[in-house]
Amino acid sequence: DRSVSRGLGDVYKRQVIINVYFKGAKLFMRMVDIILKKRDGGHLTKEEINFFIEGYVKGDIPDYQVSALLMTIVYKGMEKDEIFNLTEAMINSGETCDLSSIPGVKVDKHSTGGVGDKTSLVLGPMVASCGAKLAKMSGRGLGHTGGTLDKLESIPGFNISLSSEEFLEQVKNIGMAIIGQTGDLVPADKKLYALRDVTGTVDSIPLIAASIMSKKIASGSDTILLDVKYGNGAFMKNLEDARILAKTMVEIGNFFGRDTRAEITDMSEPLGKAIGNNLEVKEAALTLLGKGPKDLTELCLDSGSTMLVQAKIASDKERARQMLLEHLENGDAFEVLCKFVKAQGGDESYIRDLSKFPIARYKAEVRSPIAGYISKINALEIGLSAMKLGAGREKKEDRIDMSAGILLNKKIGDAVKKDELLATIYTERPNYESVLKDVYNAFEIVNEEVGTKPIVIETIEWI
Ligand code: URA
Repeated sequence: DRSVSRGLGDVYKRQVIINVYFKGAKLFMRMVDIILKKRDGGHLTKEEINFFIEGYVKGDIPDYQVSALLMTIVYKGMEKDEIFNLTEAMINSGETCDLSSIPGVKVDKHSTGGVGDKTSLVLGPMVASCGAKLAKMSGRGLGHTGGTLDKLESIPGFNISLSSEEFLEQVKNIGMAIIGQTGDLVPADKKLYALRDVTGTVDSIPLIAASIMSKKIASGSDTILLDVKYGNGAFMKNLEDARILAKTMVEIGNFFGRDTRAEITDMSEPLGKAIGNNLEVKEAALTLLGKGPKDLTELCLDSGSTMLVQAKIASDKERARQMLLEHLENGDAFEVLCKFVKAQGGDESYIRDLSKFPIARYKAEVRSPIAGYISKINALEIGLSAMKLGAGREKKEDRIDMSAGILLNKKIGDAVKKDELLATIYTERPNYESVLKDVYNAFEIVNEEVGTKPIVIETIEWI
């Protein structure tokens, strides 16, 4: 009983710890004591963390107690060894992927998510064309951020559920595969994330780091590259938090023996110019043909260089970049995209002829009433607008329109003339007027010329 345990104060708490320590048995552990310990600034042991994760996954510990513990973690944080132990307990809650039958170094990447982030669709074929092996599990979009699986499913026939034999065989043969997360990988995260989503406990660096890294480590790759985005369209709103999250995740990865590096990248404007599922697939294909937006191309070259160094295919980033540029220019990277789409049941002819993708019924333009320079494009506003147009989900169950979204005609730093096109919206929904206004409001236009920021702010290679 909580009131009694509170009343007994320190004596009680000491007693609980002694019980656990000497008798070691989970029998003597109680979830309420773990909550109280964390609430009062204590340090959770490996046994206590295992007890909480195992008990929650089995259904022995109820949501309300786990919610309370999660909220104390949001406020009290976690020490490094607590985060490592949490990650390990989460990995051990389910199966792990064995990629050892694929020859060579297996590489993986993860983006913390943003608006217009179609990087995997470009980067995967780029590094695979240079000989890297990418065995990737991806997620779906929710809210203002899109998901790689939804984008891939905008290609007719594309199948995101391969058997593990098909998955391994495809990576061996063409160098890459992207599938949905399998049911038994880190079940603890599935339960915890659903609970965090509705209890205001998503925004915690230890919880985010353990959630992402448990899945990445369980997925079995030898190397992990993390793209930690910051800016108003990202999870991390400022550079300092992005840095802490990136470092925490790099430390976790290295602790588990994976070569883990992170890039902190700018998400203060959408990435590239396309936001929305088939619009982004088209932009990804164009980027592999050398006709993509500058920021997306640069991000993929930078991330790809790090991944090739991690895979030991190139000795340094400069050489890796040269290799990537060669495989872009000679068309190899584009060919890998086509093979990858075909191997997963997608109609490759859509990639070879992008005009085959359906275009939304309604199309409307946002034009600038003044001349000047673009100083801001609010990524969050653009992401939410794309969602309202049908490109994203407000709730998990929502259906998305594959052809809905926004094409930007301008990026930060561009000059704009009066009446010039800022963006075009695409939707199946006839009542889009208010979204047009939101898209216009996402732009800030000033009189003076505006400088641009590099897309990759810093790289964290080892702590
Ligand atoms: N993405 C994840 O997978 N987990 C989090 O906690 C946050 C973002």
